[in-house]
Amino acid sequence: MGKFEVLDHPLIQHKLTIIRDKNCGTREFREVVNEIAELMAYEVSRDMPLEDVEVETPITVTTKKSLAGKKVVIVPILRAGLGMVDGILELIPAAKVGHVGMYRDEETLKPVEYFVKMPENMESREIFVVDPMLATGGSAIMAVDALKKRGAVTIKFVCLVAAPEGVKALREAHPDIDIFAAALDDHLDENGYIVPGLGDAGDRLFGTK
Ligand code: PRP
Ligand code: URA
Repeated sequence: MGKFEVLDHPLIQHKLTIIRDKNCGTREFREVVNEIAELMAYEVSRDMPLEDVEVETPITVTTKKSLAGKKVVIVPILRAGLGMVDGILELIPAAKVGHVGMYRDEETLKPVEYFVKMPENMESREIFVVDPMLATGGSAIMAVDALKKRGAVTIKFVCLVAAPEGVKALREAHPDIDIFAAALDDHLDENGYIVPGLGDAGDRLFGTK
């Protein structure tokens, strides 16, 4: 069974409170989402594989560690997942970026897939699927389905705010993946919004309604 971990570093908690505020404007929301994503990436990448490499320092030749294997892939779930990509790239600049386009039908709350574009060799890469919100879990489940269909094996799901309903659904559908959240909130309301949450992450990031 993959793990579920809340990354509640004080800086992450502080920044998350800033963007929960309904008066936080688009510009600040965007900046702070990226800052939180960068802080989360530090923890999420903790078990990245290393290999021994020889390095010649000004003093001597020595063997030290360097990242091993194929490049990480960051996969934002469009649209709102895009808000987390630049923050993660600050830490892992060589990462590749795949995209999964998906929106939640507002009547049925079911996700609708509209775009998938991934790098090659997905089976041998570590993949970070990112989306600020894990609500019913429908979008995350469908995104991971789409990745597994393309050969992906090692998948981590990274979100800012998770609802217990979404965590349960995602763990049941994909017990092999790790899930990281900055916060585990209380519940979903009758419209499928996370309570207390931060509202519609996509609209707040992009200034739409
Ligand atoms: C939001 C959010 C997730 C999804 C979560 O996207 O960014 O992708 O809802 O809900 P779920 O867990 O119930 O599936 P939305 O459909 O609003 O699209 P957007 O990113 O284009 O705004
Ligand atoms: N999608 C969002 O953007 N916010 C929620 O609270 C739930 C789904």
